[in-house]
Amino acid sequence: MKRIGLLTSGGDAPGMNACIRAIVRYANYHNMEVYGIERGYEGLINDRMRIMTNRTVSDIIQRGGTVLKTARSVEFNDYKGIKEGASNLSNRGIEGLIVIGGDGSIRGAKDIYDMFGVKSIGIPGTIDNDLNYTDYTLGFDTAVNTVLSAINNLRDTMSSHDRVSIIEVMGRKCGDIALYSAVAGGAEVVLVPEREVNIEEVVNKLKKSQLSGKTSGIIVLAEGAYKLDKLKEEIEKESDISIRTTTLGHIQRGGTPSMRDRVLATKFAVRAVDLLKQDIGGRIIGIKDNKIIDLDIETALSQPCKYDHELHELIKILSL
Ligand code: F6P
Repeated sequence: MKRIGLLTSGGDAPGMNACIRAIVRYANYHNMEVYGIERGYEGLINDRMRIMTNRTVSDIIQRGGTVLKTARSVEFNDYKGIKEGASNLSNRGIEGLIVIGGDGSIRGAKDIYDMFGVKSIGIPGTIDNDLNYTDYTLGFDTAVNTVLSAINNLRDTMSSHDRVSIIEVMGRKCGDIALYSAVAGGAEVVLVPEREVNIEEVVNKLKKSQLSGKTSGIIVLAEGAYKLDKLKEEIEKESDISIRTTTLGHIQRGGTPSMRDRVLATKFAVRAVDLLKQDIGGRIIGIKDNKIIDLDIETALSQPCKYDHELHELIKILSL
C-alpha cells in the first residue's frame, strides 16, 4: 500500500497528536504517503484532505487536542455519506484509512471497510477508557492525572474547612475515569454508572468516616452515575455534612499528554501502519497485559464490560 488517509473523530483526547506524528513519520519512512483528513468523517465526505510530511507534524507531540481537528459526523451514519467518503479516497488512490477515536468513530471505520473495501484500522482514542477489548485507550492516563491534580487542590481547601467535596468527572456510560482517580486520589466514595447508587450507603460511609476522626472527604462522581445537585441535596438532607461541588468538564479533555499516553500513541501508530503495509484492514489496535494487540473490529466492540469491581471494592477498605 502506497497511500493512506488519517483522521481523528469524536471527542478529542490527549495523545492524538503524538499518534498523528508517529503515523506520518513511520509511514513516510516506509515510503507510504499520508493524507491528513480534516474534522473527521465530515472532512472525508467533503474531500478536505492534505498531504502530511515529517515537517507538518513537527512540534505537536506535546500538544493536547488534534491538529487534524475533529467532529461528530451524522452524515457518516448513512450509506450515502459512507459512499461519498469511500469515493473521495479512491479518487486520490488512497487505499487505507486510519481512524483515531472512540467506539462510534471506530464503527465508521468498520462500515467503510465492510461496504466499500477500504482497508481501515481503528486506534482507540478517547479519555473515557470505555472500549472493553483494550486495557487502555489513548488519553485516559492524561485525563486521570488531570482529575488527580484537581482532587489534590480540593483536598487542601476541604481539610481546611472540614468539608466534603463531590467532584464530577466525565464518563456517561463508563466509570473508569472516576474509579482510577478515586483509587489514586484516596477518595472516600466513588459513584459510577456500572453500579447502582445507594444514597443511604454513601451517607453511612461519610458518617463512619466522621466517627473515625476524618473531618473532610472526597466523593468522585462519574457524570453518568447520578445527578450532581441531587446527590448533594440528598446527602445534606440525611446528615449535617457540608458539601461543596465541582464539575471538571472539558478541562479533562485538554492538556499536554502524559508520558504513558505519548508512548502508547506511538506504539498504536506503528502497529496500525504495519497492518496497512501488509494490506490488512478491518482491525482495531489495543493493549492487553502490556502487549500491543490487534483484533477484528466487530469482535473487539462486542466484548463484555471490563469494569474492575475488585478495585472498586478496595476503595471501601482503603478509605477507612
Ligand atoms: O470524549 C468523551 C466524552 O468526553 C464524554 O465523557 C463526555 O460525556 C462527552 O465526551 C462530552 O463531549 P462533547 O461535549 O464534546 O459532546
